[in-house]
Amino acid sequence: MEEICGARGSSWDAPLALFGGVHLLALGGEEPDPWSRLPQVLREHRARLARFVAEEPVQTNEVQRAWGLLPGFLSAGAPVLDLVELGPSAGLNLLWDRWAYRYPAGSWGSDDAPLALHGEAEGGPPAELLERRPLVRGRLGIDRAPVDVRDDAAALRLQAFVWADQEERLARLRAALEVARHEPPELVAGDYLEELPRLLAARAPDALTVVFHSASTAYLSAEDRARLGGIVEKAGEEAPLAWLSYEHAGDDIQGEIGFETFALDLRVWPGGERRRLARLDGHGNRLRWLGP
Ligand SMILES: C[S@@+](CC[C@H](N)C(=O)[O-])C[C@H]1O[C@@H](n2cnc3c(N)ncnc32)[C@H](O)[C@@H]1O
Repeated sequence: MEEICGARGSSWDAPLALFGGVHLLALGGEEPDPWSRLPQVLREHRARLARFVAEEPVQTNEVQRAWGLLPGFLSAGAPVLDLVELGPSAGLNLLWDRWAYRYPAGSWGSDDAPLALHGEAEGGPPAELLERRPLVRGRLGIDRAPVDVRDDAAALRLQAFVWADQEERLARLRAALEVARHEPPELVAGDYLEELPRLLAARAPDALTVVFHSASTAYLSAEDRARLGGIVEKAGEEAPLAWLSYEHAGDDIQGEIGFETFALDLRVWPGGERRRLARLDGHGNRLRWLGP
């Protein structure tokens, strides 16, 4: 394994890259069941796997996080939304209004949606919130390594980075990729800290722009996270704006609530007061509602 991982060996994501490479052999049909003979597979495909580990950034897009995000979009409270996602990967969560959702208090979306998301929720979101039906008008994402869903090889690599035995995650990803292939959201390649001010300056006044992100700002330094806050706050002071964040909460109450402590936070300008709507786990499977 050390030989294959080379310079990336000590990096936290080296195992993800290596198992992604092995999973890709399975998805591509070359090794239908690499897991039952892993030592041989690692030996036989060593050069190829070493290249994959050296060259491929680990790239994932977790569609289930839309189940955690939906109550945030609804809480923004506007009838028409222009979405700007920071770190969208393949942009699948920009298509959140295409899926159906189930929560204890009710459901959202159409019965014939290509994907139905559900999870374990307590305390909400409330039924009245789930009655809101905002129209999504704009969908734009900024990612330094965007995945082009129309490129079959790129779409297969995205699937390879899901753990091979997590079939439900894979099925969700494939269903979302199928939809995205026909209506790919616009993705800008670049650093969102650089691109965002220009995009916000050009936002339209006849819809509410919602800047949102999930599992993305953890990759920024504390200084850059503060810079992002400054960019959004400045834009919010100039014209209406919403900022929805599904990120690690930065505290440690996992022992108390029983799952990873991500949080769903919303700020809407004018005003810009921060509302913590929910605690979530990292992949959008569990939610504890805190909002109104
Ligand atoms: C773990 S993925 C999460 C993808 C998606 N938000 C989701 O929830 O599935 C993090 C994404 O953020 C992007 N990213 C991180 N920092 C970025 C930055 N400063 N500018 C642009 N993209 C960034 C990465 O390229 C990656 O696509």
